[in-house]
Amino acid sequence: MAQQTPNTAAFVPSAGAALVLGERPIPTPGPNELLIRTHAIGINPIDWKRQAFGIAIPSYPTILGADVAGVVVAVGSDVASSGLFRPGDRVLGSADAMGSGNFDHAGFQTYTILSASATAPLPKFLSFTDAATLPTATSTPAIALYETLGLPAPGVPLPAHSRKTGILIWGGASQVGAGTIQIAARQAGLTVFAAASPAHHARLRELGATGVVDYRSPTVVEDLLAAAEQAGVEITLGVDAVSSEQTLKTTAEVLSRFTTTEKKGRLATVAPWPQGLTVPGDGSLEVGWVQGGKIWSDRKDLGELLFNQLLAGWLERGEFVPGKAKVLEGGLGALQKGLEELKKGVSGEKLVVEV
Ligand SMILES: NC(=O)c1ccc[n+]([C@@H]2O[C@H](COP(=O)([O-])OP(=O)(O)OC[C@H]3O[C@@H](n4cnc5c(N)ncnc54)[C@H](OP(=O)(O)O)[C@@H]3O)[C@@H](O)[C@H]2O)c1
Repeated sequence: MAQQTPNTAAFVPSAGAALVLGERPIPTPGPNELLIRTHAIGINPIDWKRQAFGIAIPSYPTILGADVAGVVVAVGSDVASSGLFRPGDRVLGSADAMGSGNFDHAGFQTYTILSASATAPLPKFLSFTDAATLPTATSTPAIALYETLGLPAPGVPLPAHSRKTGILIWGGASQVGAGTIQIAARQAGLTVFAAASPAHHARLRELGATGVVDYRSPTVVEDLLAAAEQAGVEITLGVDAVSSEQTLKTTAEVLSRFTTTEKKGRLATVAPWPQGLTVPGDGSLEVGWVQGGKIWSDRKDLGELLFNQLLAGWLERGEFVPGKAKVLEGGLGALQKGLEELKKGVSGEKLVVEV
């Protein structure tokens, strides 16, 4: 293996501490894995939450990060014989250290191990920077739609009535929300309604939303009911990409207006339903917590389908448009600033560092 640069990682030295750069060995891929030289890293809200609250951290020093794009340096034996990826390929992927506890598989470093099932080929026209916005923005929506809400697998011919089913995406401008809008509208064939700031409405319509409302409007529930009536559909599915107590109450209220004991609805949440908060609808609305990490474990099959087979085609055909990347200058050294900026909150953009 050609080793051009040392492997520099951004370590969290101890609970709650700021990132510190240091060197560590370049890891070796296992049979179903690839080693990539990372060129762009996307930051996720879970990264700052793990740093601040110690979530899913087996030991310190630890390395955060999942969303990466780069060039394949080496492949494991099974990947080599499958011919799926070769050294020199441009790829994007979801690094699984948060699930596996193996820091070789963490994104915040120059050399990262990816599982082949969570790696996608990168179309030529797409930059590493734009690609780094994609892993979680596609895998979490895929888990939400095809696992939590139980829709038929992507690629299965759509039932003729699917356009008659409405889905509400709360937090449509978030990375997870905008990804869910696109997959729900273009792959699952649902009629999509989104709640987002007005500044993002035009873009979300372009991504496939039929109805968009302002989530800060005091009449947001009535606005959604009116949009559904205008489109002639019933909103019986939902993905709450924010999942605060307030947003959960509102999304559940909207869905419960359309559900009955004969016509059940389903709401996928990105955080667990709060204890003590009653789900409206007298049992007609089922709520499920999206566990995006299943893409690396129980739903590797969905990971393979999404990353190995579907995503490059969606990108090439313009069926999935990457989110807007905001590049933070300074490479790995800018990650700490990025974590702090993301904690304060961003609007319709993904923070990315180039390595
Ligand atoms: N369970 C899982 O497996 C899983 C996986 C991935 C992410 N997550 C979680 O999902 C959440 C979203 O992640 P992300 O990366 O998509 O976040 P993000 O892009 O950083 O989210 C920022 C967006 O949230 C929107 N927003 C904030 N408060 C809102 C509200 N009250 N109503 C509607 N929209 C609101 C803002 O919309 P405007 O710009 O319109 O104001 C903003 O554009 C995070 O909490 C993350 O930790 C969970």
